[in-house]
Amino acid sequence: MSEFFVHPDIKKAETLPAEFYRNPEVFERQKEAIFYKTWQWVGDLDSALPGNGSVFPIIFLTPMAQEPMLLVRDKEGTPRCLSNVCTHRGNILAHHPGKMVQLICGYHGRRFGLDGQFKSMPEFEAAEDFPRPCDHLHQYPLKTWHRLLFTSIDPSFDLGETLSQMDERVGFLPLDQLKCDPLRSRDYLVNGHWALYCDNYLEGFHIPFVHEGLNAAIDYDAYETHLYLHMNLQIGISKGDSICFDLPKGHPDYGKSVSAYYYWLFPNMMFNFYPWGLSINVVRPHSPSQSKVSFYTYVLDESKLDQGAGADLDKVEREDEFVVEAVQKGLQSRHYHTGRFSPTREQGVHHFHRLLAEHLSI
Ligand code: FES
Ligand SMILES: [Fe+2]
Repeated sequence: MSEFFVHPDIKKAETLPAEFYRNPEVFERQKEAIFYKTWQWVGDLDSALPGNGSVFPIIFLTPMAQEPMLLVRDKEGTPRCLSNVCTHRGNILAHHPGKMVQLICGYHGRRFGLDGQFKSMPEFEAAEDFPRPCDHLHQYPLKTWHRLLFTSIDPSFDLGETLSQMDERVGFLPLDQLKCDPLRSRDYLVNGHWALYCDNYLEGFHIPFVHEGLNAAIDYDAYETHLYLHMNLQIGISKGDSICFDLPKGHPDYGKSVSAYYYWLFPNMMFNFYPWGLSINVVRPHSPSQSKVSFYTYVLDESKLDQGAGADLDKVEREDEFVVEAVQKGLQSRHYHTGRFSPTREQGVHHFHRLLAEHLSI
């Protein structure tokens, strides 16, 4: 079994070896070691759970994890994330979003409250030692940040602290008004490993080489990277009179022309804030050589769409895919093993590789 190590000093460190991206066994290990231990963004309150009694079935990180979950808002309005699997013989409880007063399994009629507690079951009067605690539905942790929902299978860290660090810079925006616009949201199938897609996202080093249009809108020399524990942030500063945030007094970046806050949450999520709103990107692993990248669009100010760093995201995405898919091919070479990091431009990629190596060696 391969072990990975990334030196904490970026000046000395080597990138993760090609084997990390190529080996199907390493890909399989990531399910338990990384994706079961971390959080996934699973939607927003208004789209998934518009009222008390709403239920919304999801599959956690499909197709890699395939964990059937059910987002539920009980009659008091408390949101929860329950297992969507009946504790009798494993039937899926809810197939469609809707409103319910209780959950009734369509196979043999077992009933649960919207809090996941077992309520009743026909023909079980003679069953001994029944019901037991395991007859209730399993409850997963659910975090709400403004209107956005996050859950996890077995998290190794508390997401609340991480999310509150995002508030330091974007908390001044009217985030409680975030509304998903499905017409502006879309999926991309990328012929590359999910971590290669993140590697590319985590540095602005490639912008002058790969994104001519974006490079004209942002000041490459003023680009910033900030590292947190399970998150990092890249700040794009606008060039000339390109559109930027109207930052309030006392904001950590007050006085700077910030055109984009690019937050990345370990392992596979990006929260890109632009003056027009938020683009959430989720990279879902399909295989060691294929991933699906989904863009979810939340508009806060339509008048600022299609300007500056937040303009033409589809073109920027195609340009990124071209290099990610080229690297995927390059990593199949028997002569490429590992690379080095630019100490001034690749701090985000180094941070990601450190987290990946740490999680895989637990
Ligand atoms: S599987 Fe649900 S009641 Fe039998
Ligand atoms: Fe890019």
